[in-house]
Amino acid sequence: MPRYFCENCGFTDLLDKNLYFCPNCGDPLTIIYNDGELEANFSGLGVWRYSSVLPVDPDKKVSLNEGNTPLYKSLRIGNEVKELYIKNEGMNPTGSFKDRGMTVAITRAVERKFKSVICASTGNTAASLAIYASRAGIKGYVVVPDGAVALGKMAQARAAGAHIIKVRGNFDLALEMVKNFARGSNDAYLVNSVNPFRIEGQKTVAYEIIEEIGEPDWITIPVGNAGNITALWKGLNELKRLGKIKNLPKLLGVQAAGASPIVKAFNSNSETIEPVTSPSTIATAIKIGNPASWRRALKSVRESGGAMIGVSDDLIVKAQYLLSSKEGIFVEPASAASIAGFLNAARSNLIRKDDVVVSIVTGNGLKDPDSVNRFESFETTVESEESLLYSVIAQ
Ligand code: F0G
Repeated sequence: MPRYFCENCGFTDLLDKNLYFCPNCGDPLTIIYNDGELEANFSGLGVWRYSSVLPVDPDKKVSLNEGNTPLYKSLRIGNEVKELYIKNEGMNPTGSFKDRGMTVAITRAVERKFKSVICASTGNTAASLAIYASRAGIKGYVVVPDGAVALGKMAQARAAGAHIIKVRGNFDLALEMVKNFARGSNDAYLVNSVNPFRIEGQKTVAYEIIEEIGEPDWITIPVGNAGNITALWKGLNELKRLGKIKNLPKLLGVQAAGASPIVKAFNSNSETIEPVTSPSTIATAIKIGNPASWRRALKSVRESGGAMIGVSDDLIVKAQYLLSSKEGIFVEPASAASIAGFLNAARSNLIRKDDVVVSIVTGNGLKDPDSVNRFESFETTVESEESLLYSVIAQ
């Protein structure tokens, strides 16, 4: 039977309880499988194609057809490497990768008869929770930093009828609050990425990438609370166990420079992080100073032989604009961090000329429409047809 497992201290328990954190050391729990319990029996499309490696009953799934996101070959911005692919997780039902984890976590919530679900969020988890809770017919509560969530994400949470609880502080405070709530109450199921069922759903991105292009040399991914990089590495390792890949790709975890405690720990070879008390970046989705899954992120990146790097806001904006204007892929700033990290690493020769690279972009550009105000603008107002002609010819 699949079991809860603590990667830090080895604690293990059955899945017949609602656990998130290790009762011994406090780290977020993982779900592990014995040999024979992981089966590569894949059919259909999207997250539920991989139900033979998921710990919930697919017949009871709460789904909006998540996963099966497009993987594009870069035409213009990946010339420095053999091939650059862009996995566009912004094409999920609510416009972010969170839906892969949410479909599994909400299915688990329903299996466990919860009537409510809760999360802390910089926006995308909130949007995904709200929409999936409405699909499941249960109540959604989202705790968000007041004034720090992008417009599109708030709109989704509101539209889905979620209870929006604003805190005067940042995401780290909101997460601390919901963690304490979940320790003391079983009234609502916590579906942040500290929930091991979220990680199970999100690992399916690894399965899709490998089924589509085989083994890349590198995968780049933005890192905030560090659940997604944990999930990616878990999926890749399962694929190795299943004999679907021989060599594990290297991971490039990318944080915004102003919110990069894991990068600092990586660079100083430290076994622990120093939380950033006032994280700052325009990439609000990853404006996180005390990531819950930092230990698993550091371990994943180190095991893979990859790296953690920090990127400036300036480069994030450039990468976002490059991706939309040169490749036709419009993403939100946190997702562009993945591309900014790629550009940095290719230039410094960390990623080499003959490497095949996949950059995961995590959220749709429509989530944060205000972010394009930072781009160079080509807008003109015309009063007449002549002036229209002139405007076009003069370009
Ligand atoms: N990209 C986007 C668009 C995100 O929304 C997030 C996280 C990340 C990357 C980082 O993923 O936290 O698993 O390392 N957003 C969370 C939220 C924190 O509340 O929506 P991570």
